[in-house]
Amino acid sequence: TKLAVFASGSGSNFEAIASAIENGELDASISLVVCDRPGAKVEKRAEAFGIPVLSFYPKSYESKADFETFILQQLNEAGVEWIMLAGYMRLIGPTLLQGFEGRIVNIHPSLLPSFPGKDAIGQAFEAGVKLTGVTVHFVDEGMDTGKIIEQDYVRIDENDTKENLGRKIQAVEHVLYPAVIRSLLQENIKR
Ligand code: GRF
Repeated sequence: TKLAVFASGSGSNFEAIASAIENGELDASISLVVCDRPGAKVEKRAEAFGIPVLSFYPKSYESKADFETFILQQLNEAGVEWIMLAGYMRLIGPTLLQGFEGRIVNIHPSLLPSFPGKDAIGQAFEAGVKLTGVTVHFVDEGMDTGKIIEQDYVRIDENDTKENLGRKIQAVEHVLYPAVIRSLLQENIKR
C-alpha cells in the first residue's frame, strides 16, 4: 500500500513509520513526503530513507485549492492510496478531502476531544490533568475533530516538566502510529 506522509517539522513520526516499514513491521511504502515548510528537518530524514520530498511554499500559491490541486496531481501520479499527517500544521481543504475521502489520518498529542489545536502538550500540562495521551483519527474539515481510530494514554507525574512530558508523548506516538496504520491497512477500514 502506497502512503504519503505530510509533515511541517521535525518528522520523528515520519521516521517511526518509515522504520516500521524498513523493519518489516508494516507492509506498505512511503511514495512521497509532502512538506509545507521548505528546510524543515523532515526533509533530511526523508532523504536518509531515500524517499522523495515534495516541498512547497503555500504563500506562492493564490489559494489552498491551488496548492492542494497541485499536490493531488502529484499524489495521483505516484499512485498514493493513503495520506498520513504527521505534524502537518495546516487544515486539509476540500480538494484533498474529496480526492482522498476517508483515507486521510492524523496523529495528535492529546486525548481528543481534549486539547485540540496547537501545543496540545503545553495545554494539557498547564491544565494540570494527570492523564493525557495520543489520538490517531480520521481527518475532516475541522481542527482535530474527525472520527477517533485509536488512543493511548500517558500519565503526568508530579515531577514531570513540559519537556519530558513531550518526550513521553512522542515515545507513545512512535509506537502507536505505525501500529494503527498497520491495522487500518490490514482491515482496509474506511471512515
Ligand atoms: C507530533 O506530536 C504530532 O502528534 C503532532 O505534531 C507532532 C509532530 O512531531 N501532530 P514530529 O514532526 O513527527 O516529530
